[in-house]
Amino acid sequence: MLFAQRRGTAWRALPLVAAVVAGLLLSPVGQDRASAAPGPSFTNPAVGAPNSADPTLVQYNGNYYYVATTWSSDVVMRRSATIAGLRSAPEQLVLRTGGTQMWAPHLEMVGNRWYLYYSVEMSGAPRRTHVAESAGTDPMGPYTYRGVVNLMPNNGWAIDASLLKLNGALYMTFSAFHADGLQSLYIAPMASPVQTAAFGSRISAPTLAWERQDGAVNEGSFPLQRGGRTFLTYSASHCNGPNYKLGMLEYRGGDPLAQSSWSKFANPIFQRNDANGVYGPGHHSFFTSPDGTETWIAYHANSSATQGCGTTRTTRVQKISWNADGTPNLGVPVSTSTVLPGPSGETGGPSRVKLRNRHSGLCLDDYNFGTAPGAEVRQWTCNDLAVQDWYLQPVGDGYYQISNGHSGLCLDNKDWATAAGSVVQQWTCNGLAVQQWRVTAAGGGYSTLVNRHSGLCLDNYNFGTAPGAEVRQWTCSGNNAQLWSTT
Ligand code: AHR
Repeated sequence: MLFAQRRGTAWRALPLVAAVVAGLLLSPVGQDRASAAPGPSFTNPAVGAPNSADPTLVQYNGNYYYVATTWSSDVVMRRSATIAGLRSAPEQLVLRTGGTQMWAPHLEMVGNRWYLYYSVEMSGAPRRTHVAESAGTDPMGPYTYRGVVNLMPNNGWAIDASLLKLNGALYMTFSAFHADGLQSLYIAPMASPVQTAAFGSRISAPTLAWERQDGAVNEGSFPLQRGGRTFLTYSASHCNGPNYKLGMLEYRGGDPLAQSSWSKFANPIFQRNDANGVYGPGHHSFFTSPDGTETWIAYHANSSATQGCGTTRTTRVQKISWNADGTPNLGVPVSTSTVLPGPSGETGGPSRVKLRNRHSGLCLDDYNFGTAPGAEVRQWTCNDLAVQDWYLQPVGDGYYQISNGHSGLCLDNKDWATAAGSVVQQWTCNGLAVQQWRVTAAGGGYSTLVNRHSGLCLDNYNFGTAPGAEVRQWTCSGNNAQLWSTT
């Protein structure tokens, strides 16, 4: 049986058995999942500014998926096999909301679909919570917009939604203003992941002194369930100051919609640590390590007591523990100079992406199915073939080794060149600087790829637009010919 593939003007036959063997030999096979080995070490922030506040970080099938406030109309997502690789994982546009100032996206799986909840303002109307649903089980999407989640009467303001699965039912917790003027925590019963069964009812108001610093606020709720107990952690005080912090409720039985079913812990569970230079830690999420043995927290914080709710808030992650009484122990926010081992069981496996050029709309391609060192790299009409699968393997310091799914060879700065116009080829992977590429988010779901040796950008040479268009290295300019999206 022959597997035929049209290339240029001629048909080339690639024996199917060879393609299968090549595929098996060349496509990276996930390493045996480490039983308890920590992942590559890292320092915080795990994700730098500007799209790094109010993080939701999910671990799914050994990859991390990350969303955060963007202040634009878009929801962008990062994917990485390690926490260490998250900082330079490319942002991928997953949803155009059509609103303004997208805040606090929450990503969660219900059944076999992913749901993205976020708040935006639509043409001047009050900020409300909206939802989009994935087409399948890939958190990267695609997503379909499913409408507004009708949480408060009179189309009222509602933000920071997250889901709570309790007693076999689905609820949404969120933040809204009560008639008494206090921005409080609410809970609403859900008829489905996209529809409420009733408006929300209040279960917590910012009444304690530590909830009222710089402004009385309860928001950013996120559940934590363990050993049959349900905790609802949340952010308290105003994000505009250094005293933004985390508090906790516990469900004590009874109707979850009744405030009397929840008790509030008298003291904060996570707060500023001046000695470590961490201010206003909050608006968090929890995730498990790839081997499921550890619970981690992702949160935002500022590095100065004078910073507030803007784009200075960066995402930090650290492991939590559990007290003897069964309550979570979040510890203190660590310094950005603290080196942390990565979560247990990270395979460190590569992430598979397509690299599509913003100017040409073509995809980076192992030209003519080359497999020998020196094989050409060009652009071709995007397809789902392995010749356009590129595996990004973090090598530390925000650099990646980029190998091809068909050739198994690595993207390589030919002959250690440094001049603008230098050739890019595929070569046997060797881990040298000529094969290390810094992937830096450039906004809108695009990234630049800068070679560690040459300092030049991967470039759609001469702005080609026809299949077969060349790629070279060129002085970084930020123009569309040097912007690549991952799909
Ligand atoms: O960061 C934007 C908003 O500010 C978030 O939705 C809220 O949690 C925070 O106070």
